[in-house]
Amino acid sequence: MKKLCKAAAAFLLCAGVLTGCGSKEDTKTEKKIPVVSVAQIVEHKSLNTIRDSFKAEMEALGYKDGENIKLDFKDAGGQQNTLNSIMSTFAGNKSDVIVAIATPTAMAAAKYSKDIPIVFSAVSDPVGAGLMDDLKKPNNNITGTSDEIQVDQILDLALKVDPNLKTLGFIYNSSEANSVSNLAKAKEFCKKHDIKLVEGSGANITEIQSAVSVLTDKCDAIFAPNDNTVASSMSALVETANKKKVPVYTGADSMVSDGGFATVGIDYTELGKETARMTDKILKGEDVENLPVKVFKDNLNIYVNEKTMETLGIQLPKDVEDSKNLVMM
Ligand code: TRP
Repeated sequence: MKKLCKAAAAFLLCAGVLTGCGSKEDTKTEKKIPVVSVAQIVEHKSLNTIRDSFKAEMEALGYKDGENIKLDFKDAGGQQNTLNSIMSTFAGNKSDVIVAIATPTAMAAAKYSKDIPIVFSAVSDPVGAGLMDDLKKPNNNITGTSDEIQVDQILDLALKVDPNLKTLGFIYNSSEANSVSNLAKAKEFCKKHDIKLVEGSGANITEIQSAVSVLTDKCDAIFAPNDNTVASSMSALVETANKKKVPVYTGADSMVSDGGFATVGIDYTELGKETARMTDKILKGEDVENLPVKVFKDNLNIYVNEKTMETLGIQLPKDVEDSKNLVMM
């Protein structure tokens, strides 16, 4: 009897310990679900493509939101103040990784969070934006993917379509560091090819539209780099430019699908996926400094908007028409 009691007591004790252990484990695992906080400066087609492909690739990598990861998506609606408050919340809520889509987002993330690893997405010129000194050696707990715009190739296309191109309008938001970098490249190209560059800038859709209507009066073509403010203003911009029969060359495929005439550019779905792969590596313990920035500048396609081409009455040069990289949108 005594023995039986002892055995029962031992069993109960054991079971108790086990249950105790079990529940402790549970709370531990619950606490351990990593938090990945994702923000974008504004909702435009290209940034949404990046966000969606990031999310899909995270799922493909085995992350299930609410089960083994918490994914928090925020959009700043194009407002710098909102962006700042999103970033200060992210920094305070113990995120494990902050994912920052586009240059203004990455700059705000870097400002508000020093301790949390930051993975940026689609930052055209991370060094120019002051995020790091060397793309190969991220030194500020920040790395990511870059869509380095091939300004020369885009403007080469413009010259091929119109060998008499003499005046080029450059439309941008001068407070976007990504566009300031591309302006410098466009200036260099124009200088080399004896083209006059005229700048037009605006901080919102209305200002962009009026700047464009000034440019269309004096320019043979307009270049809209991948500027987030301009990307959000495409329908107004295209309407004005098409009326005056001025072709708009853009920095991204999304802006061609939104009515711009043409670009030479990358596939942003791939860039979004790579952003997820880098985030995954950091979640698995890799140091940011061992993850160089992944620059997307190869495997470019020529994107042309067919309807805009008809409206403008443009005929594509033979070699462009025959190119296997030509994508009509
Ligand atoms: N590269 C832009 C930046 O650095 C972000 C971006 C990605 C973008 N795709 C775009 C901007 C398309 C305009 C259009 O901020």
